[in-house]
Amino acid sequence: MDKLIMQGGQPLSGTIPISGAKNAALPLMTASLLTSEPLILRHVPHLADITTLAEVLGEHGAELSLHGHGEGGETGRVLSITTPRITNAVAPYELVRKMRASILVLGPLLARHGEAKVSLPGGCAIGTRPVDLHLKALEQLGATITLEGGYIHARADNGLRGAHIRFPAISVGATENLLMAASLAEGETILENAAREPEIADLAACLNAMGADIRGAGSETITVSGTTRLRGADHRVIPDRIETGTYALAAAATGGDVTLTGTRPELIDSLTELMQQAGVAVTVEKDSMRVCRDPDRPMEGVDMMTQPYPGFPTDLQAQFMACMATAQGAAMISETIFENRFMHVPELMRMGANINLHGGTALVRGVKQLTGAPVMATDLRASVSLVIAGLIAKGETEINRVYHLDRGYERIEDKLSACGASIRRERV
Ligand code: EPZ
Repeated sequence: MDKLIMQGGQPLSGTIPISGAKNAALPLMTASLLTSEPLILRHVPHLADITTLAEVLGEHGAELSLHGHGEGGETGRVLSITTPRITNAVAPYELVRKMRASILVLGPLLARHGEAKVSLPGGCAIGTRPVDLHLKALEQLGATITLEGGYIHARADNGLRGAHIRFPAISVGATENLLMAASLAEGETILENAAREPEIADLAACLNAMGADIRGAGSETITVSGTTRLRGADHRVIPDRIETGTYALAAAATGGDVTLTGTRPELIDSLTELMQQAGVAVTVEKDSMRVCRDPDRPMEGVDMMTQPYPGFPTDLQAQFMACMATAQGAAMISETIFENRFMHVPELMRMGANINLHGGTALVRGVKQLTGAPVMATDLRASVSLVIAGLIAKGETEINRVYHLDRGYERIEDKLSACGASIRRERV
């Protein structure tokens, strides 16, 4: 297991290129199961989660080839996936438990193959993570679903039929699974109370390029007219808005001056507004954003509540909290999406942060300075909030279990070192 060793106190200064979005690339990869023709994905980030999902797809008969950096200065990698036929409908526990997003093979396997046996993903550090919304909606498309031995066994012997589905609660993954399943269902499907995250619009754009007929993705009501088959496509993954927000917050926290390039700043307007309220200068261009703060002028504490898109993303909550730890005044941070997404709090407190938890709300009172300490990463976004804390803490911070980080951040120590951070990886 690797660890990161950091010396805090250096304001970040320079440019950080943003990679393709992990949470777009994962569903896009599972969409390849819907066709026997090659699906080419460009700007794919180099992450552990991508590698794990590639293994899962291989179990089902997908043939994958990965090329280095794409031609013409394309950043990221080019991934080509072809599934001539589904050779095995089982997504095994040992892979699914490593990669919850494997649940996204359920819809495509059902639609293409008429059967799927997917291990229940189980919970993770941030919550129980049920999949009931996925299953109930797939049953409305005509699937018969039983749970046995920790596996979801889904069948659609007569194919799937379109339906009018109203999600009782907003779910990104359930919306994605249903978009893919409905693309090959007979007739029209309407998804109401659908998630509006940009990764869903990106998936819909790729599915439409494959021959699907999806309208309204990105809004709360999506209409899908099913078709009998889908073809291959060539699709570029959208930039990662969560990586963008993470490095924007790191720049603000350190009192630095950083330009984030190859991104879509409008996808994190909710964060930009809060940072500007806190006294950070944010300049937005079409595909870049510049974040700077005078190191002699601390950020102001501002309240925040996580919400489904376009509200403040839950995936930036831990990073925002690390920023608020040394702000002027206090910040009330409410987590409304997951029931246990404050695992970073005890670790931040070990570094001197003053945080009080009341159920789903954390009251952060700004302190003058954090102090470096050995800390433990617990989940992907909690780990990166500890990196932000380590960047601003006095002295040395050692972050253990950084495999959590590698799931969602491509070359984080390179990107931060290039902006002046003192951060190195050590093999343990
Ligand atoms: C996606 O997870 C993201 N993962 C998460 O990012 C992100 O935090 C989340 O959406 C919310 O934006 C990927 O895209 C791979 P949900 P997902 O279904 O689809 C409950 C990261 O750090 N729920 O929108 O699993 C659920 O427990 C990860 O990159 C049900 O109750 O999220 C949660 O409380 C973490 N039943 C809420 O809904 C269901 O059937 C939102 O979950 C499904 C979800």
